[in-house]
Amino acid sequence: MTREASPLTREQVIEAAQAAFLTHYGVAPTAVGVAPGRVELLGNHTDYNEGFVLTAAVDYVTAIAGAHSQRPLTPIATSAGFPEATFDPHAMEKSAGEDRWANYLKGIIDELQKTGCPVGNFAAFVTSSVPDGSGLSSSAALLVAAARLLTTLWPDPIAADPMELAKLARRAENGRFVGAPVGLLDQFSSACGLAGHALFLDCRSFTWKAVPLPAEKAGILLANTNVKHELAAGGGYSERHGQCMQAARQLVGRGDAKLRDVTPALLESKGIGLDPVLKQRAHHIVYENVRVEKAAEALEQGDLFEVGRLMKQSHESCKRYFENSCTEVDFIVELACNQPGVYGAKLTGGGWGGSAVILHDPTEDITEALNAALIKGYTEQFGAAPTLLATTAAQGAEGFSC
Ligand code: GLA
Repeated sequence: MTREASPLTREQVIEAAQAAFLTHYGVAPTAVGVAPGRVELLGNHTDYNEGFVLTAAVDYVTAIAGAHSQRPLTPIATSAGFPEATFDPHAMEKSAGEDRWANYLKGIIDELQKTGCPVGNFAAFVTSSVPDGSGLSSSAALLVAAARLLTTLWPDPIAADPMELAKLARRAENGRFVGAPVGLLDQFSSACGLAGHALFLDCRSFTWKAVPLPAEKAGILLANTNVKHELAAGGGYSERHGQCMQAARQLVGRGDAKLRDVTPALLESKGIGLDPVLKQRAHHIVYENVRVEKAAEALEQGDLFEVGRLMKQSHESCKRYFENSCTEVDFIVELACNQPGVYGAKLTGGGWGGSAVILHDPTEDITEALNAALIKGYTEQFGAAPTLLATTAAQGAEGFSC
């Protein structure tokens, strides 16, 4: 059975980080940063196009326990089986070695130092219930937990505003230590999550609102295919990013235009002369933005059937226009949508493998039958079971002294 057991609670992950710090360094930590992963409910690749997203923080979290340190080098250890990283926070270099996971922390330290926050030497221990490569953005959880820990150790005004902290974490991921051209969806969800709510974000104005997504009304299930197709390793994402920027420039006729500036009417009139591939990419983003706005309205009215319908359309659009899905994810989306009590399902995250998100009636019988059907159907087709992770819409990140 590959259905994951319930995750450790947030409190258990925090306690584990504190206990591991004490065992590892022989002293108690003085602060903790904790941050959840995220699930993209709707708004696939819309974030870096300055469009809309509908997202939620999840029950799986990363906690980092830490304390100021007088050692010449900062050690960061983890329970995840990665080797301990040590570096000087005043002379950091990007690592290409086995400790490259710590590049995310270096990115946060770098961005905090740029804002004037005097991050110096510390020691830290990272513990997480966010499975690596699960489609729940373990990277955002690590980034935002680090930002919360460090702004607790070195108090900084930026910590007062979760949105500013999310933007800082995105800069860290875009910047020289990580270098991924991602949008704000992951870091925003992790920093701003609200229990029992999905978050609707305008990635241009950075205004956002929480819309109800109560656990007793909707179950959220992540089905990870555990496959990663070649294009996923940075290439596909960057290529789509480039195509979107090019399509926006040509459709709007301005160098700094984004697909957010393109309405369906503009796409239909000006799209005629556009390269067919660019037109397809633009089509996905322009109509995905429309779907996100509609889904936020539907959630406000408690209409989960409508949200599910929009999710299915989103997935069709990924397949047909954005071409970032794959056979395995398509199969699981279709399988899920044919089960009783399922509102909708779609690819979630970058694509070319990874996970589907399924929104369903959370009653126990339906949930059990859905899990069983997914495992059976997928295993029969591909010879290996998907990993199923259930979650609710959860609280966002926090940092505290201890
Ligand atoms: C990844 C990125 C996000 C977003 C999604 C696709 O998760 O990190 O910024 O672009 O893909 O919606």
